[in-house]
Amino acid sequence: MRILVTGGAGFIGSEYVRMLLGVPGGDAVGVPAVEPSVVTVLDKLTYSGNLGNLAVVRDDPRLRFVRGDICDPVLVDEVVAGHDVVVHFAAESHVDRSIVGAGPFVTTNVLGTQTLLDAALRHGVARFVHVSTDEVYGSIEQGSWTEEWPLSPRSPYSASKAGSDLLALAYHRTHGMDVVLTRCSNNYGPYQFPEKVVPLFVTNLLDGGTVPLYGDGGNVRDWLHVHDHCRGIAMVQDKGRAGEVYHIGGGTELTNKELTARLLEACGAGWERVVPVADRKGHDRRYSLNIDKIKTELGYAPSIPLDDGLARTVRWYRDNRAWWEPLKTPAPVAVG
Ligand SMILES: NC(=O)c1ccc[n+]([C@@H]2O[C@H](COP(=O)([O-])OP(=O)(O)OC[C@H]3O[C@@H](n4cnc5c(N)ncnc54)[C@H](O)[C@@H]3O)[C@@H](O)[C@H]2O)c1
Repeated sequence: MRILVTGGAGFIGSEYVRMLLGVPGGDAVGVPAVEPSVVTVLDKLTYSGNLGNLAVVRDDPRLRFVRGDICDPVLVDEVVAGHDVVVHFAAESHVDRSIVGAGPFVTTNVLGTQTLLDAALRHGVARFVHVSTDEVYGSIEQGSWTEEWPLSPRSPYSASKAGSDLLALAYHRTHGMDVVLTRCSNNYGPYQFPEKVVPLFVTNLLDGGTVPLYGDGGNVRDWLHVHDHCRGIAMVQDKGRAGEVYHIGGGTELTNKELTARLLEACGAGWERVVPVADRKGHDRRYSLNIDKIKTELGYAPSIPLDDGLARTVRWYRDNRAWWEPLKTPAPVAVG
């Protein structure tokens, strides 16, 4: 099977590539036997893409890397040809950056997805896996979203992802293309660009610095280790039904304050290292996914308990300063 992974040099895409090629960041147990003969990574290497994320699989003869933009129709047409499956991760992914400037989000997330879908349609790709986020639903006070929940995105990031989700589903309904969607909760783990809350806090704490906590710290997120996200995507790639959306979540909801307490403890630091900062504009209060569908249809369950996953993650950042130190200068634009 020839698999094209867009955004495969980013945080989650690179874990997917490592997993496909047999060097995952978590246990290989429970990973479906998707056996690739070729894994092509198409990645623009924006600020968050990094070839270092693929260093452990660099010498695998099945890996091909193409540096390029998913918005470039000529290149995309050339690269998509000959692949059986496209797994689409490439995106502008940071909410705070989308508040500062939405343009690249609309371009990459909407136009880029449409460019890929068109090429996949032209070349008769057998399956297109579109990777999305719980943020497309907005914010929920109580209960959990099911896959049928109406979309109500509230940030330019989530609005652009919702646009790409609707396009992907439209290609299924209009053209009969085999498209499957995943929507996942907040990921943490190794190789995450240190602008997102977990690696930002961990690397600041390891450097003896402070960490900025938004607002009252009461915003709730459901946390999932990146490896468990990728296991879920592989199951959907393998056995998901065409035209369907599958939620992938961890079932471990924490307020940002609770997450901060765990990270402080894991790094051996106290609350004096926390600096409250003004809340993010339009900050969604709570995200919560119902994951019954992927559990019952595909037998998915997260495998890495949060405390274990956070401990492993802190250890990874402690042991891999050479990976993140160059990424901390100049300072990332904001936290989140
Ligand atoms: N991080 C999370 O918690 C999370 C949760 C749910 C869903 N997602 C989704 O998962 C996907 C991957 O997220 P991530 O956290 O790994 O993001 P990331 O920012 O770490 O990686 C994105 C990758 O896409 C590449 N890229 C960006 N624009 C491109 C373009 N125009 N052409 C080609 N490549 C381009 C970047 O170079 C980078 O390698 C995204 O679609 C995101 O919406 C992320």
